[in-house]
Amino acid sequence: MLGKMSPICVITFGCQMNEYDSEVMAGLCAEAGWTITDDEEKAGVILINTCSVRRHAEERVWGRLFALKERASREPDLIIGVCGCMAQGKASEIARRCPHVRLICGTRAFDRLPSLIERARRERGGVIDVGEGSLPRLASPPRKRESWLKAFVPVMRGCNNRCAYCVVPALRGPEVSRSGEEIIAEIRLLASDGCREITLLGQNVNSYRAARRDGMQATFAGLLGEIASISGIERIRFMTSHPKDMPDELIAALAGLPKVCPHLHLPLQSGSDRILEGMKRGYTFGAYRLLVRKIRDRVPGIALTTDLIAGFPGETEEDFKRTLGALEEISFDGAFIFKYSDSEGTAAAGFIPKVPDEEIARRHGILLKRQGEIGLAKNSALVGQAEEVLVEGPSPRNPGRLFGRTRANRRVVFEGGERLIGTAVCVTIRAATPLTLLGEFRG
Ligand code: SAH
Ligand code: SF4
Ligand code: F3S
Repeated sequence: MLGKMSPICVITFGCQMNEYDSEVMAGLCAEAGWTITDDEEKAGVILINTCSVRRHAEERVWGRLFALKERASREPDLIIGVCGCMAQGKASEIARRCPHVRLICGTRAFDRLPSLIERARRERGGVIDVGEGSLPRLASPPRKRESWLKAFVPVMRGCNNRCAYCVVPALRGPEVSRSGEEIIAEIRLLASDGCREITLLGQNVNSYRAARRDGMQATFAGLLGEIASISGIERIRFMTSHPKDMPDELIAALAGLPKVCPHLHLPLQSGSDRILEGMKRGYTFGAYRLLVRKIRDRVPGIALTTDLIAGFPGETEEDFKRTLGALEEISFDGAFIFKYSDSEGTAAAGFIPKVPDEEIARRHGILLKRQGEIGLAKNSALVGQAEEVLVEGPSPRNPGRLFGRTRANRRVVFEGGERLIGTAVCVTIRAATPLTLLGEFRG
């Protein structure tokens, strides 16, 4: 019989919000008496936290679920649970295609996760909960972080925008900001656990609003000011800012608060006004260009990164050329470039004409290649300069070297002793690749 001693393994797909949610889930289960393991083979409960944002993300989850079928038939007590975005949007499809899944828990139901697991343990049929619930918070420092020096902290949940291609609002619900007190308490907890860099998360942090004790409304820029006073935290990052409503106050915070890192993720999505309109993004490329000028004026040297989608329905060669032109003109420090894919239930899923897959792949490839060249040129321009690097640990690719990031979030690899891990050091850049800088440290 499966007892509480049978450990729980949480597997995460998707964005940083999901990584955070997985930690909260593991924390809730640990509080309820379960042990948590990273070893899927030894686990009696496997929770898969899922993503639905693009076709590829869902395909990876389906692949993982089908691969578990055979083990589930060998181990009748094994509980396989699907949580998060795909659970929210595709509960009945998961139940139909994967009868070996015994628990489905949506994006706003995981405050009930421990009792749902208990139910799944008692009942042989599948347990499904995709209802509303409160948003549980992190009770103790996360067990697993990308690095013990860094952590993600959501400032809000959900999204009130209706970008035509995007399934996130349907899956995560309307925007809800967390209170400043709760966020500050969580960051203090992280700081006391050795964390020195935090990334504040939200689908659009620009629209963060929370009631303050003095009856005023806290804005995101105000929140940044408060977080900057927490000792131990040295670097503050945030994402994402929507270009349609980037407040001056936030640009001023980027310029004026030394702990707020000079990096902004500002998704453009397309360089064509026609396509931006179809996407319901609420800005033109001209407005984006002006915003970028203002930001670069006020925060010299700021790194700008973006998201672009290739092959949105109706995208012509001319629209695509505008996106390519925008990528070149703005000269982004980094770009996530995605192939458009229909997401069920979104407006764009019904838009025609679709761009054929091979054509999407071609445009995607051209954008990637051009961004690689721009990234290399931008990184090469840093050769000879000194950069402050927060040393995270051994380089994942080359464990003999150290890895860290500059304040503008550029990746740096350099030779140095282990004692440097966890410190911020000054590194001279000696060479560049499109995504990484090679540095030299003289102690
Ligand atoms: N709230 C954030 C992140 C949304 S999801 C924002 O507004 O930027 C991250 C990125 O995935 C989006 O910026 C978009 O570029 C991409 N994306 C979302 N839905 C997509 C789809 N159906 N096809 C391709 N890319 C998509
Ligand atoms: Fe999706 Fe747009 Fe909301 Fe971002 S702002 S999560 S792209 S709807
Ligand atoms: Fe994140 Fe994917 Fe959901 S990007 S919000 S896990 S659909």
